[in-house]
Parts: sequence; structure tokens; C-alpha cells
Amino acid sequence: KEKIFISVGSIHKDITFNVSMLPQLGNTLKIHNSATSIGGKGANQAVGIAKLGHTVSLVGAIGNDFEATFILNTLEKENVSTQGIYRNKNSRTGKAYIYTESDGESAITILPGANDDLVSADIENSLYLFRNACFCLISSEIPLETVIMAAETARRNNVTTIFKPSVLEEMPEDLYKTIDIMIPNKKEASTLCPEYSSVEQQAEYFFNRGIPVVIITLGHEGCYLKTRDTSRYFPAVNLAVVDTTGGADAFISALASYLFDGYTLEKSIQIAMIAAAFCVSRQGVSSALIDKNSLEVYIAKTRPQLLM
Ligand code: RIB
Repeated sequence: KEKIFISVGSIHKDITFNVSMLPQLGNTLKIHNSATSIGGKGANQAVGIAKLGHTVSLVGAIGNDFEATFILNTLEKENVSTQGIYRNKNSRTGKAYIYTESDGESAITILPGANDDLVSADIENSLYLFRNACFCLISSEIPLETVIMAAETARRNNVTTIFKPSVLEEMPEDLYKTIDIMIPNKKEASTLCPEYSSVEQQAEYFFNRGIPVVIITLGHEGCYLKTRDTSRYFPAVNLAVVDTTGGADAFISALASYLFDGYTLEKSIQIAMIAAAFCVSRQGVSSALIDKNSLEVYIAKTRPQLLM
């Protein structure tokens, strides 16, 4: 039976405002355009996996509103299976309000809505998906108990877990035991590990707590990898930056896809850096995620040694 990917995480309607600079306290800012799209780390990562040619189920929650219908329709168009999505009659679909500055940096505020209703029982009800999965991508814009349950369920079913600790103040001990690959950005790593200031020390700390593969993403500075055998930086791929939103989602989905395809961790990271660079060189997230063919054509032209 074909192995599937699972993405457990937030589903949002993203409302993006392009601004020359973020609004300052006490000032009023005039915005000239805004865009709406599907978003949320769970949804973005699922779309990323589907675009790279794999079968993926999204496990998440939406409300009972117009946005929910828009999200289900979009996911179906993107070939993401929606059977693991719970629709809560009494909630509104989550929303993210995103300010993107002209240098591409973005600031995100989240109104979780239905994402807060995704409970452990929903993971139990999705057990049939885990039984048939290879990778489970987990991000934490959903209740922490649900994150823990997803990671435990994946571990019990021999599914490799990749975890993005977004909006997480503390990493619970249970998660250190059930996560295979942890991918925080620089800010998330500092929040979870305030006692160390360098990326190397933070990665070492997560590794020593029990995570076998730690990758700290560093934006235009690339990323840092720590495993039992390796501690090293990977440079970023230099493409023009338009909107940094979702760069990590592009990275994570490409990393998982190419690991599944049998590429080494080092090669998969380099390919994921290209996927992330491509995403941030375009506006938005889901429409900026690269498809398998475009990615491999680009790699064949620029770094053929990466392809098997
Ligand atoms: O990673 C980018 C995503 O973070 C956005 O799509 C937004 O919805 C937030 O979840």
C-alpha cells in the first residue's frame, strides 16, 4: 500500500497587507492592497508535500463559515486529502493577519478560532491515517496536548516526526522523546532555550534532550544542522526576497519529500533550501510553493550533483 504523509497543524485564512514598514504605536497606516489566501502551517506544509508529488492528508480543524468552504475547495484543488479535517459547527475558521514589509520580512498575528478545537480525540480518530504513514509533520499553532498526542501516535506507528515549534513557550519533556527532526527558527530556538545565546549551543541543547536531528533555520544565513555525526551550517540559496512568509513551511515539506525519496539528510537539506528560497522569492505561501518538476529542472541546471 502506498505510504502517505500527514500534516498536523493550523489551518488559516491568511489576510496579507503589503506595507512599506510595520505600523508604529500611536500611528495610523494606510494600506494600498491586501490579499487573501489559504494559510496556516499545517495547510501550507500539506500543500508543499502535494506539490512535490506525494499523497498527503491534513489533520486540522476549521469552523462553520464561508472561509471553511474556501479552504476545503482550495485543498481539494491542491490534491490535499481533507478526510482528517474536523469541521466544528460552533467555531470560526482561524485567521492570520500578515504584514509584509517592502524588504520581504513579515509579522504575523493569529486568531486561532477552530484551530483551538483540535483535540487529542481527533488524533485518535485519525489513527487510520497514521497506520499508513511515512512522515508526520507537526506544527504547534494547535493545542499542545494535541501536538503531544500526534507525536506519540506517530512514534507508536513507526512514523517519522518533523516538528516546527511555532508560538511555543516551552518544549514539554514528552515531546523530546517523540520528535525525530526538530526545525525551529532562530527566534523559536531562543524562546525554547533562553539559557544559551548561540545557535550551536541551542542545537546541542535540543540534541542532548533527545532530538536526534536538529535543524535551526536562519533565514538568509541558511541553517544549522546538529546530529550525532554532524554539526554544520548550510548556506542559503540567493534568490531575491519578496515575502519571507512560509519559507520554513516550504523547507519542511521539501525536506520530508526528499528524505522519503531516499536522498541523504545533507542533500535533502540543500534541496529544501532551494524550495525555501523559491517560496520567499514570491508573494504569499501556497501559490509560492514550488512543484516537483520546476524544482528538479532548477536543480538540474544549477546543482546537478544534488539529484540522484
Ligand atoms: O508559516 C506561515 C504561516 O504562519 C502563515 O500561512 C500563517 O497562517 C501562519 O500560520
